[in-house]
Amino acid sequence: MTTSVNAPLSARGKLASALPAEQLAEITELFALRRTGYSLDAPFYTDPTIFKLDMEAIFGQHWIFAGSVAELPEPGDYITVDYGPYSLIVLRTDEGDVNVLHNVCRHRGARVLTEAAGSTGNLVCGYHSWTYSPEGNLIHASAPGEAKFDKNCFALKRAHSREVAGLIFVCIADVPPADFDETAKIFEPYLAPHDLSKTKIAYQQNIIEEGNWKLVMENNRECYHCDGHPELACSLFPTWGLTEGLVPAHLEEVWDRNKEAQSSLEERCRRYGLPYEVVEELDTRIAGIRISRESLDGEGESFSADGRRLSKKLLGDLRDFRLGRCSMHLQPNSWFHFLGDHVITFGVFPINEHQSLVRTTWLVADDAEEGVDYDLEKLTYTWKQTNLQDKAFVELCQQGAASPAYEPGPYMKSEYQVEAFINWYVKRVQEHLA
Ligand code: FES
Ligand SMILES: [Fe+2]
Repeated sequence: MTTSVNAPLSARGKLASALPAEQLAEITELFALRRTGYSLDAPFYTDPTIFKLDMEAIFGQHWIFAGSVAELPEPGDYITVDYGPYSLIVLRTDEGDVNVLHNVCRHRGARVLTEAAGSTGNLVCGYHSWTYSPEGNLIHASAPGEAKFDKNCFALKRAHSREVAGLIFVCIADVPPADFDETAKIFEPYLAPHDLSKTKIAYQQNIIEEGNWKLVMENNRECYHCDGHPELACSLFPTWGLTEGLVPAHLEEVWDRNKEAQSSLEERCRRYGLPYEVVEELDTRIAGIRISRESLDGEGESFSADGRRLSKKLLGDLRDFRLGRCSMHLQPNSWFHFLGDHVITFGVFPINEHQSLVRTTWLVADDAEEGVDYDLEKLTYTWKQTNLQDKAFVELCQQGAASPAYEPGPYMKSEYQVEAFINWYVKRVQEHLA
């Protein structure tokens, strides 16, 4: 089941092939002048040229989270993934591989597939019926009188794909960054026990946030604002991101409860051979990552008011529901919560400098029955509420960045991961500009 809100396609950004030298110098200086420990200057959130640069240097170069295997379980299943000026087809082939093709017809450029998801054999462009194989080869073009027409020269353009622990990543760069292999080795052992290949989509939500993609990611990197999430606060300890010595008096009791829950979670993880240690390399590698397994409040099973399970079916080979949340953040566009009873994936797909699509997908065991093993409203309640609250926070910041009165403010200690994300972003773009 999918809900969707569409932005007009005309609002999507177009990639600049090359910036005029003067403009490039201005932007390069803006990056060089970035003040460490402070939020970014307004143009990073509002300037269409910087957005074009982001599409080129970040979304054009890095591995981007596209979706999970639950979204394309069978040969012929596909999703279309749009960000900035790009549209990609991510398709399961008969051989079981994942192909990524640019969704741009080689005749006159029409979008070939227009649905967000579906199943297809050959790919037929709706304009003049040019027909491509699932590998992207042009296999039929009715071209009366074209003596010299060589179909081999007009395959759909291809991009790279990777599938790790059931998550699908795409990269449109000619040569994708190699260090993703190292990052994949870090996260695979944490996620594999939840076995995404045996899950199905319970619900998928697409929200358009009126905010730059970086504001969406920044907002997700701290819980300083978690007082604004009453539903989430039932299960997520509001001490997230704090360390001993930073805990305010009113959270001391919560901190103690958190510590106790965490040590009993770690004991269970050791018993089951599940990794739980924090690995944090947000700005120290190209494929920036943070992963950990952290306790949840109450029963410690799921994102419910009392922490109890929201689906009766355990995922994969897990033997216990009380596994807290294995949470992962991957630069540049995703975060995840893997629980004993369900998984939630979050992908951020920039539309333009002031709008981003946030796609949230709830996955449950493929044999879990709605209404019997889980109640869809209850399963999705906490994060639907939280997403709406986060959307509002992001939009407040976007409005602020558009005001001439805005100037960068200091990050607090509990916002160190926001800073790490920004460090990563600035470094990546600077490398691209160099
Ligand atoms: S644009 Fe696709 S067949 Fe003409
Ligand atoms: Fe939030």
